[in-house]
Amino acid sequence: MYKWYSRVVAFGLCMIAPAFTSSAAAQQLTSPDGHLSLTVSCDKKGTISYQLDYKQQPVLQPSRLGFVLKDTQPLLDNFEPVKVSRDTVNNVWQPVLGEQRNIRDHYHEMLLAFRQNRNGRTLYIRFRLFNDGLGFRYEFPVQDSLRFFIIREERTEFRLAEDHLALWMRGDYDTNEYPYSRTRLSGLNREWEKPPFPVHAQSPVKIPSVQTPLMLFSPGKLYINIHEAALYNYPAMQLAWHESTKTFTSHLTPDALGNKGYLETPAHTPWRTVIVSDKAAGIPASRLVLNLNEPSSYSDVSWIRPIKYIGVWWEYFVTGKSTWAYGKDGSQHGANTANVKRYIDFAAVNGIDAVLVEGWNTGWEDWFGNWKEDVFDFVTPYPDFNVDELHGYAKEKGVKLIMHHETSGSVSNYERRLDTAFRFMKENGYNAVKTGYVGKIIPRGEHHDGQTMVNHYVHVAKKAAEHRIMVNSHEAVRPTGLHRTYPNWIAQESARGTEFESMGGLPPNHACILPFTRLIGGPMDYTPGIFQTDLSWYAGNRGRVNTTLVKQLAYYVTIYSPLQMAADLPEHYNRFPDAFQFVKDVPVDWDTTCILEAEPGEFITIARKAKDSNSWFVGSITNENARTAPIHLGFLPAGSKYMARIYNDAKNASYDKNPQAYSIREIPVTASTLLQEYLAPGGGLAISITPIKDSRKKTTQ
Ligand code: NOJ
Ligand code: CA
Repeated sequence: MYKWYSRVVAFGLCMIAPAFTSSAAAQQLTSPDGHLSLTVSCDKKGTISYQLDYKQQPVLQPSRLGFVLKDTQPLLDNFEPVKVSRDTVNNVWQPVLGEQRNIRDHYHEMLLAFRQNRNGRTLYIRFRLFNDGLGFRYEFPVQDSLRFFIIREERTEFRLAEDHLALWMRGDYDTNEYPYSRTRLSGLNREWEKPPFPVHAQSPVKIPSVQTPLMLFSPGKLYINIHEAALYNYPAMQLAWHESTKTFTSHLTPDALGNKGYLETPAHTPWRTVIVSDKAAGIPASRLVLNLNEPSSYSDVSWIRPIKYIGVWWEYFVTGKSTWAYGKDGSQHGANTANVKRYIDFAAVNGIDAVLVEGWNTGWEDWFGNWKEDVFDFVTPYPDFNVDELHGYAKEKGVKLIMHHETSGSVSNYERRLDTAFRFMKENGYNAVKTGYVGKIIPRGEHHDGQTMVNHYVHVAKKAAEHRIMVNSHEAVRPTGLHRTYPNWIAQESARGTEFESMGGLPPNHACILPFTRLIGGPMDYTPGIFQTDLSWYAGNRGRVNTTLVKQLAYYVTIYSPLQMAADLPEHYNRFPDAFQFVKDVPVDWDTTCILEAEPGEFITIARKAKDSNSWFVGSITNENARTAPIHLGFLPAGSKYMARIYNDAKNASYDKNPQAYSIREIPVTASTLLQEYLAPGGGLAISITPIKDSRKKTTQ
């Protein structure tokens, strides 16, 4: 029996294909609905390439595959296809938390084995074609001529057939907190050459390059998203752009020595993903990235719960009155017992599950840029933060506290202290932690997106699971669907979120881009819910959150996360209790999701049904342009009556001049209702839809 055979079994495919048949030079695969077709070929030089078509239009022109290795011959040519096996999978699975209760995993698979003739090495490439796109990965079976090896570069190409519009973020090995650019592919180089944003760039890639998820589209015709799935034990992939050939090539994040990946056979890469649709809504509706991840690796997941939370957080960014550090006398220290109790009280009264407290532990005086490895120990509170008292107080009020572990990039220190830190959390009633990786990774200078750190984030999630702790990571590598496998890794930041509204502001189209880019990988802790958007409310602050108040409500539906913050200060929610009702009502875990309409960077409207309830919620957002959203409630079950509570921007509202002008109305609706709702410039729309109880039925029962 071939060694690769046991590998296939180990991967748990639902069936083993019949023995590989000898293969011709080109192999074809079609998606279950027949709309996507893949051709894989091997030319005279033995170079492997693949090509993807959708409804007879080319998505990717023939694009080459392979690797450059360190100290040994490359895996680029001299290949000969030797085996092919095919498979079909069609099943349904349930995520622990998610956008929908049931997810269909339906694909046609082709596993190709290639032999490199000059040295007898074997490389497998596994392709899966779903109705919504392609996933493929390289697999390296155990073989004498390839045991331990070092990848210098992966050479996967994505050769585009059209000069699409691109929504892209420039390449950087350490941060994904960049703004997005929108250019045609033919204009990408010109835009890329403009200087990067010096404040936030950490390790910009020095050749024209972008990060994934990358959104490419020709409006009304073709929508393509390129990303990766199940990134583990491998560096994150950036994409280098070659204008002359209209080709992106994989550009892996290096380690401190400039190497890319260290592998031991048997091994495989993450999946390279290409989601394809002729409708924009098909991109955020895709579950391809999740489907390519392994099922949950935990048998008991009953302790993994959705979380709505507030936090001692935004006040640090905008008020100028409090901060993380205790300082000389603690007079500006935000995480003091009395202040935290105020937040706990607010959470208890308003049905909010938890309170995040940042700045509770010693170390913040030295945390940033001081190159000190041992800055945080994760167990020592500042003198005015009474751990016992707050534990008891929160418990009595039925509220959880969320732990904060800012590592300031000192990762060896964090790993050494992890067990102790998690034990401390459990002893004191915490079941969730927000981790942070601000700054350079010390002491070895690894990159945030390199193999070492990729493995670190997963290590933290697994270690946390041993303690039944949920993790929300900030500044980590962008997600690739691993929350399916490690469902306690409940959310990540990994893009610009609300914090940037206090650092110069996010453009009004930013959140209209996220569903097509960052959110393709997984849930985002965006921290929505800012009601006081004009920050000149705070003395000395001239900033502005570039949304209307209602758009902030809509984010709870348009930005998926089973962990959602109500990020503003409690006093602002008390000023607008009728609008805050939506934040209280909206769930964060869903039974069904329908993308009603969308256009990347312009608008998106999503309807979601709450898990274990018959209520629906709609969120719609627009960029800087006002619009009227047609919302057909055909997603409701026919024959049932509902009451819709509609939160609208006022006619004279706008993100920059009149953000807090809104109206709320209630109307009865059914599945045949068609709403036409106004969204102001930089505005939004939020609707809660609850079943009307039939009073006659009640009395007769
Ligand atoms: C950056 C995080 O994104 C933010 O949420 C946090 O407050 C600061 N780091 C401090 O840890
Ligand atoms: Ca951040």
